[in-house]
Amino acid sequence: MTHTSPIRKDLLPMETKVDISLFPVTAGINSLGHLTIAGHDLTALAQTYGTPLYLYDGATVRGQLDRLKTLFKQYYPGDAMIAYASKAYFSQSVAAKLAALGAGSDVVSLGEIRVAQRAGFPAEMIHLHGNNKTEAELRAALEWNIQAIVVDSLDELAFLETLAAEQKRSARIWLRITPDLNVNTHPHIETSHSDSKFGLHIQNGEAAEGIRRALASPWFKLAGLHTHLGSQIFDAGPYSQAIGMLFEVAAANNYIPTEISPGGGWGVRYTDADPSDDAEPWVRTVAEAVQEACNRHKWPLPRLVLEPGRWLVARAGVAVYSVGTQKTTPSGTHIVAIDGGLGDNPRVALYNAHYTARVVQRAAAAPTEKVRVVGKFCESGDVLIPEIILPPVERGDLLATPASGAYQLSMASNYNFAARPSALWLEEGSVEVMQSGELPDQPGWLVYQPDQVG
Ligand SMILES: Cc1ncc(COP(=O)(O)O)c(C=O)c1O
Repeated sequence: MTHTSPIRKDLLPMETKVDISLFPVTAGINSLGHLTIAGHDLTALAQTYGTPLYLYDGATVRGQLDRLKTLFKQYYPGDAMIAYASKAYFSQSVAAKLAALGAGSDVVSLGEIRVAQRAGFPAEMIHLHGNNKTEAELRAALEWNIQAIVVDSLDELAFLETLAAEQKRSARIWLRITPDLNVNTHPHIETSHSDSKFGLHIQNGEAAEGIRRALASPWFKLAGLHTHLGSQIFDAGPYSQAIGMLFEVAAANNYIPTEISPGGGWGVRYTDADPSDDAEPWVRTVAEAVQEACNRHKWPLPRLVLEPGRWLVARAGVAVYSVGTQKTTPSGTHIVAIDGGLGDNPRVALYNAHYTARVVQRAAAAPTEKVRVVGKFCESGDVLIPEIILPPVERGDLLATPASGAYQLSMASNYNFAARPSALWLEEGSVEVMQSGELPDQPGWLVYQPDQVG
């Protein structure tokens, strides 16, 4: 890969003038005008590891975790816990780091259970979610004796009871309650409305029935109630409302929860148009709602469990792509194509997600040209950024998109038999390969042998 673009010294204003606040906390621009993270020049990383390339900044992840811990201390006098929603991005390495930092984990598959086990998470800091857990997943969770199997339906409650009885071990469970509330986010990441596939709905009596059945069974220890409203939420109001509803349904069924989890979902900034994403309104609102409900019912404070995924890792992540072809359509759209797209980041196609980007080699250059950044996949919907003003770019230039740490690599596919990219964990002075990029030339890569068929 060559990077031939000249460095425009006249386009290198003081670092402070350039807003790179969407990037990780350690992001900077070096004397060559190149974007850096944790002191690493992104052009050098791209040269060594190729593109597309995903970078995670350790300091940003730790900063987000510390911020939540501080807010808990400030607003919640009871016991509190942060359980990382692994679906946002999981690798053996990131799991081990989060376990070492004292986070718990919310897992949703046998794969995530095994990674969490190997990473050293204690069983009592794991909960298993999912609207259709397999028998293997439920058995694994029972055997590991995790903090909570989060039961999602009456059907699952009955199935789990059979498994627990068969194993003669009591299952520690939460019930996922759906408050039938609408929240302001994309419909595909809204989970608590009255037509949602998730949870035991309050409106049709399932939530109450679930509590009664769980309390009546000798095979369950009903530890708490859970809800998850959706993702990319910036308004804390619905959290307060939902928590009030969890307590009401509990009280109506003579149940005092010892654990309460209003899930995750607090939003993050992808572009300058997004509002502030500090978690203070979220943690304060949730903490106040729980305390207020406990005061009203004269109940002891439960352990409060938050499950952020995106909020812990999105800002830490940066995706780096190489610019390839350019063209201008008859409608006058200037198209810039990069070497990734839908395969490593399906969020734009799935949720109409918005992104921004910077030219790595000229990170402080003034944007002058309106372009559309598209991917290389064989889908017209493979558009990373429909419209953005960039400095002029040429083949070999690198584009970096901030806020790329969540629901990108974890949702990456091999569509078009594209190789999934490498992911690096960056600290000042060190680079760790968390995930090696796939190599199509490696024997056996994505080849389905005839004898494996049928
Ligand atoms: C039950 C549950 N908890 C937490 C999360 C994390 O959401 P986010 O990454 O938006 O914080 C999800 C996301 O789907 C979820 O389903």
